[in-house]
Amino acid sequence: MPHDLHYDELRSQIKGLIDYVRQNNAIEPSVFEKYNVKRGLRNKNGTGVLVGMTRISDVNGYTIEDGKKIPIKGQLRYRGIPIDDLVNGFINEERYGYEEVAYLLLFGLLPTEKSLLHFNQLLSQRRNFPATFKEDVILKTPSRNVMNKLQSIILALYTYDDNPDDVSLDKLLAQAIDLIAKVPLMLAYAYQAKRHYFDNKSLILHQPLIEGGTAENILHLIRPDSHFTRQEAEILDLLLCVQADHGGGNNSAFATHVVSSSGTDTYSAICAAIGSLKGPRHGGANQRVHHMMEDIKGHVKDWKNEKELRAYIEKIIAGEAYDRSGLVYGMGHAVYTMTDPRAELLKEKARALAEKTNHVAEYELITDLARLTQDILRERKGDDYHICANVDLYTGIIYDMLGIDEDLFTPLFAAARMVGWCAHRMEQVMDSKIMRPAYVYVPNNNLTYLPIADRTGITQA
Ligand code: COA
Repeated sequence: MPHDLHYDELRSQIKGLIDYVRQNNAIEPSVFEKYNVKRGLRNKNGTGVLVGMTRISDVNGYTIEDGKKIPIKGQLRYRGIPIDDLVNGFINEERYGYEEVAYLLLFGLLPTEKSLLHFNQLLSQRRNFPATFKEDVILKTPSRNVMNKLQSIILALYTYDDNPDDVSLDKLLAQAIDLIAKVPLMLAYAYQAKRHYFDNKSLILHQPLIEGGTAENILHLIRPDSHFTRQEAEILDLLLCVQADHGGGNNSAFATHVVSSSGTDTYSAICAAIGSLKGPRHGGANQRVHHMMEDIKGHVKDWKNEKELRAYIEKIIAGEAYDRSGLVYGMGHAVYTMTDPRAELLKEKARALAEKTNHVAEYELITDLARLTQDILRERKGDDYHICANVDLYTGIIYDMLGIDEDLFTPLFAAARMVGWCAHRMEQVMDSKIMRPAYVYVPNNNLTYLPIADRTGITQA
């Protein structure tokens, strides 16, 4: 696809302006402290500033005793139910869980057999696009990034909605069901278009499975031969379930709350959430984990040699290797301290799958990476420091073992989280108060107006 905005030329033309941007805008962390502003909406002890309430789900990783953060085993509850209980429940009863989880998150109760069947029928009947939508919206303007295309597809749906700005609850719920139903098609067709137009592969567009659920449809739509096993669909279903929601404070749910509080339309709010999830510190971390593992394999001759591996991880943490951010992707969490319950659930599955698919060496590399990162950071920051493997450490290797392309890692997270965003949007719209926090104004040079002829071009003090 010959797309190019020719940024190189513009970037070379604006070189001289960059210094102004830097010197007149950057604010040192110490200035935040001086004005007692909670940088990143965090309290001094790393806990999040309280900015809202939610009834949808709860994320817990510590208790507070005498103002001190005490690490605990991570807990995730959907409408009060621990994620482990939910997952073990549907696995033991031998059914897929994602639609049940969606029902629980949207409506606040577990579905009966009859109501689950009805909900599945609603989803199935909405799993399609308006006539020519696929051609006009997806194929004519493919993107090399599926998350970006998801955003543009969702924004385009606004045009096909006869009253898109209606924020009555029944309309929001109808839009939620429609988006949850359609997101497997969106990501699959956006992916197929990317492969065709940017990677020179054949264009393969399957029709959705009428009888299938979300996980089955995704596998059916993304695979050229449509073939998948029950076991593969169950694993993907589990991944969708554990990523369906994560409280109100995670970056993309919070973005949904902020944007929805202005009274804007569903498509705009969900688009903002997808933009947030795409970031490498949030959902985009799963792709970074994948790249980082490739980088490690490329640079560490013998990954089983703990000394060699540790030396390279130290380099990553020092900002001297991989993307030089100093971060080991797939490690750390804003709330969880000792464990991330999603990672714990996936770890077991990943091990079993690795044994089946001959990926034990890769699996062990990941667990060694987690352990060594913990050791290194604890040695540096002291015994009070806790860091755990997060969900993204395991999603990538599981997708890999399912033969799912890296282009789809973060979009699959978005597909799972669609339900959470929609539930948070409805919750926010019911509380019709616009979010409007405050910023401290800290100019570094108090300018006065000067007529153009008197200006030197140098920052005037
Ligand atoms: N690798 C190296 N150092 C890390 C780290 C990581 N993955 N995660 C946290 N740290 C360090 C931080 O740099 C910080 O050090 P400092 O005090 O010297 O600045 C310290 O540990 C405390 O970090 P914390 O405040 O607990 O992290 P956070 O809440 O600001 O950030 C994440 C949480 C998730 C954004 C962060 O851990 C991260 O970027 N992880 C990698 C990306 C990732 O996997 N994201 C998916 C999350 S589900």
